[in-house]
Amino acid sequence: PSGAYKYFINGDWKESASGKSVAIVNPSTRQTAYNVQACTQAEVNEMFEISRSSQKQWAQTPLWKRAELLKKAATLLREHALPIASCLVTEIAKPSRDSMTEVIRSADLLDYTAEEGVRVLGQGKILNSDSFPGNGRNKLCLVSKVALGVVLAIPPFNYPVNLAVSKIGPALMAGNVVVLKPPTQGVVAGLHMAQCFHKAGFPKGVLNVITGKGSEIGDFLTTHPSVNCISFTGGDTGISISKKAGMVPLQMELGGKDVCIVCEDANLDLAAKHIVKGGFSYSGQRCTAVKLVLVHDKVADELVSKIVPQVQKLSVGMPENDCDITPVISETSANFIQGLVLDAKEKGAKFLTEFKREGNLLWPTLLDHVTPAMRLAWEEPFGPVLPIVRVQTVEQAIEHCNKNNIALQGCVFTQDINRAIMISDAMETGTVQINAAPARGPDHFPFQGFRDSGIGSQGITNSLEMMVKTKSTVINLE
Ligand code: G3H
Repeated sequence: PSGAYKYFINGDWKESASGKSVAIVNPSTRQTAYNVQACTQAEVNEMFEISRSSQKQWAQTPLWKRAELLKKAATLLREHALPIASCLVTEIAKPSRDSMTEVIRSADLLDYTAEEGVRVLGQGKILNSDSFPGNGRNKLCLVSKVALGVVLAIPPFNYPVNLAVSKIGPALMAGNVVVLKPPTQGVVAGLHMAQCFHKAGFPKGVLNVITGKGSEIGDFLTTHPSVNCISFTGGDTGISISKKAGMVPLQMELGGKDVCIVCEDANLDLAAKHIVKGGFSYSGQRCTAVKLVLVHDKVADELVSKIVPQVQKLSVGMPENDCDITPVISETSANFIQGLVLDAKEKGAKFLTEFKREGNLLWPTLLDHVTPAMRLAWEEPFGPVLPIVRVQTVEQAIEHCNKNNIALQGCVFTQDINRAIMISDAMETGTVQINAAPARGPDHFPFQGFRDSGIGSQGITNSLEMMVKTKSTVINLE
């Protein structure tokens, strides 16, 4: 429909034959900000057909040339950072400074992917047969890495640009083609980002972007026979995607209940600073946000006295004004968060700051004396709410951490490095940060959730290695 942003297929911007659109609601105003095409299943089919037919030639494009194109896309992203960031402000209510950071970080990610890609993918291996018992030296195995084919990339609302390029960059670098399904909130920023790839000169059909309703095209996309790999970041939906996906490699990241263990000997000023930043940046809507503080009872009062004034200082308001706390993504999300807070209230949690709500805007809420009986001890609010559980021993904290099924990251504050390493070893999560809040970056570090939190490792190098398959040619000498 005219007035709605077009979708991107075979190097062209097109309107859907459905004649329908999807409204993108600004979380701050709760009014429709944009419309995008509601694509049909037939258009998904067409997109996969085009993708498949573009892939062979793309895989034959020299690696240095693929790297050059990625770098061009990075330059264009940097040049257009401001308009793309302003879409993020409107669509996902990310504070304006953080929105700019997301776009610049994405350009840096693409540059690094290009540089890393030429090395990681540019190397094969030769194996001699005589290292295995019973064999002579008459076989040479030439091992190389070849593309998987069509990668379906599904990023989440909280990083519509950065978690799109972290999938697209390695996929394209490895000779795959990409079908991108941006998140509903954040889709317009994703379309602008795709335009940067288009202008960079990527061949037609190598990157295609479909938009539409999840109910109409969601399952159809993820179960499509032309998909050779799914890279998904998001919530529980990922579990059902992985169950239905079939024989394709998966890279899934489904959130985390990231705990912060504070030992008796911790530097409490440092811990408090990281807890506030880690718990409340982008209003807690990060998989790596600090979602639960497990503090030793002996230092709990002192830690709390250092956290409270910092939380009270956080500015609450609109993303355009670069406030620290901005409206959460949707009314559904605000209701869910409120439900968790009310549950904790009924079960006796102590409110260190007042819970307030205006529309989707929630004031930062710090809850002490949270117990394992409360939902907040286990569930991810994905909002500006931070529960504190007081523990008698570090073992108790570790036990709580390991009982949770969403295990992405965690952190520990102690001044004893030996102890820190022992605690890290005992915590069954993908990453443990010692003396800092959880974080995915720097973007070349491995990033993997354990248990229900994910499948496969991310990070630039790991993604490059994941988005290829091993091809061997064996020379049998006479
Ligand atoms: O929300 C999930 C992201 O992967 C977290 O990234 O640690 O850079 O905020 P971040």
